[in-house]
Amino acid sequence: MPLQSPKSPWQIDPGTLEPYHPVLTLKPFSSNLWMFDSKIFAFPIPMLMFVVNFPTNVRTWVVKLKNGDVLLMGPCQFTDGLQKELSEVGPVKHLVSPNAMHWMWVEDWKAVYPEATFWAPYGAKEYVQMKMDKRAGKHVGPVFQKEVGDPGWPAEIELVHFPLAAPDGTPYHETVYYHVPSQVAIVIDLCIWYDMARMSGMLFKFFMKQAGLTLEG
Ligand SMILES: [Fe+2]
Repeated sequence: MPLQSPKSPWQIDPGTLEPYHPVLTLKPFSSNLWMFDSKIFAFPIPMLMFVVNFPTNVRTWVVKLKNGDVLLMGPCQFTDGLQKELSEVGPVKHLVSPNAMHWMWVEDWKAVYPEATFWAPYGAKEYVQMKMDKRAGKHVGPVFQKEVGDPGWPAEIELVHFPLAAPDGTPYHETVYYHVPSQVAIVIDLCIWYDMARMSGMLFKFFMKQAGLTLEG
């Protein structure tokens, strides 16, 4: 079982954040709704690399649609074990990059499920394409077939868009995905907090507190 996706540049973190055990296995959440968590990664954020790494894990939501097809929201690390578990849920037909940050592993999944529709985040199709090209060092697109909400989007997942942008204009739009059958709203990065009890790195704790990303801070 690979520890991380072959294309991923993110490195496994040495352990400043305790992962949500168990990782890389489907965990039931509600009716026709599961999730799985990645191992911990240290994100290479240039501005922070010399003072603190940025360990985090990534969560993927698995939705079994009414027609039996499976939708993966923000697919993270691919493993053969996950592929086997998913095969018992149903055929994977939708791969969703839910916002402009959660696209790093979707190409790996697209290679495994080439028949799946590859959905770009709302309002950020060109931006994410540009980021993928930059990571690959060449033009790899167009890689998305559609944008979230385009015709063909599953009606049982309702959308609420929050058009947001960084000061430089980067389209960090967020979308809340409301799974109507289970009445669960998947928020992605509209809300972020770090559980201090899971952190061991003092410098990381300090920065997370300063950034207001902890309940205790
Ligand atoms: Fe996120």
